[in-house]
Amino acid sequence: EMSEEEKTFMARIEKGEKIEPKDWMPEGYRKTLIRQIGQHAHSEVVGQLPEGNWITRAPTLERKAILLAKVQDEAGHGLYLYSAAETLGISRDEMTELLHAGKMKYSSIFNYPTLNWADIGAVGWLVDGAAIMNQVALQRTSYGPYSRAMIRICKEESFHQRQGYDLLIKMCQGSPEQKAMAQDAMNRFWYPALMMFGPSDKDSVHSEQSMAWKIKINTNDELRQKFVDQTVPQAEYLGLTIPDENLVWNEERGSYDFTQPDWNEFFDVIAGNGPCNKDRMAARINAWKDGEWFREGLAAYAKKLPLRKQA
Ligand code: ACO
Repeated sequence: EMSEEEKTFMARIEKGEKIEPKDWMPEGYRKTLIRQIGQHAHSEVVGQLPEGNWITRAPTLERKAILLAKVQDEAGHGLYLYSAAETLGISRDEMTELLHAGKMKYSSIFNYPTLNWADIGAVGWLVDGAAIMNQVALQRTSYGPYSRAMIRICKEESFHQRQGYDLLIKMCQGSPEQKAMAQDAMNRFWYPALMMFGPSDKDSVHSEQSMAWKIKINTNDELRQKFVDQTVPQAEYLGLTIPDENLVWNEERGSYDFTQPDWNEFFDVIAGNGPCNKDRMAARINAWKDGEWFREGLAAYAKKLPLRKQA
């Protein structure tokens, strides 16, 4: 039986109204948002690591400037998202500590290594492409601060995708060795990119409730299908082969049929056993420790400021 408050809340959700931080909300709604927005923020921050790895090795000054800008944008996205989550009554420090204790997740994709320069193109094109597919839908999510963060993030994310695709156009029109690097990147990133949308709908524990609350707008499988349909012609234009022998246009459905990723691998990666999980967590935990003196300094300075203004 729903309480009066809950009935009013659901009526607002159904009308498509945004829920704001001080509005009444069910405890489960608040918790789900903290989990999802917090994970999303962590993904942006951890997501800097595989690309940061290539900043010092970018082949030209122009590519380096683009990559630097992009990695900095990811830090900014993390900050908007932590701020959005903080409106729900959790602090950024608490979320960081939960991440470091293995009690919060970040996207599975960032546990795969970036082995060659074409991987930077594949991350922009496929990984940011998959992220946008999800985030465009999330612009309409029911929680106001999350929705507004998504609108801004999507604009920047489109630039990220374009720079990745542009990089791959250059590689694919380059030497046979460059083309082969691009194909190698495609082979390694295709299935991990498909996994970003989460488990298949039948294994998605949160989808039903999150969709009823309009936190999620589409199911995991719907977005995965849209991503495949959008990406196949882009791969064709590049002259790259998608590593899936069963990929075929289905006239009846008006969509591509494709092979699902290896879900055992997915669950293994999110349990902490992917190729880079340990490195990623170690990098984040060390950065947090290294920054302790700096955070203390900032806090001490912030305390002094009002006193100075009085003087
Ligand atoms: N990587 C890591 N964990 C995942 C992933 C993934 N790709 N997909 C699902 N999971 C986890 C879920 O968090 C959940 O675990 P939990 O209960 O411990 O939190 C479990 O797998 C079951 O999945 P679902 O029930 O389908 O979870 P949910 O409804 O949260 O859907 C999704 C997952 C689609 C990723 C959703 O959380 C979402 O839209 N998040 C916001 C977008 C986001 O995080 N993007 C990061 C991508 S990278 C980037 O943007 C830089």
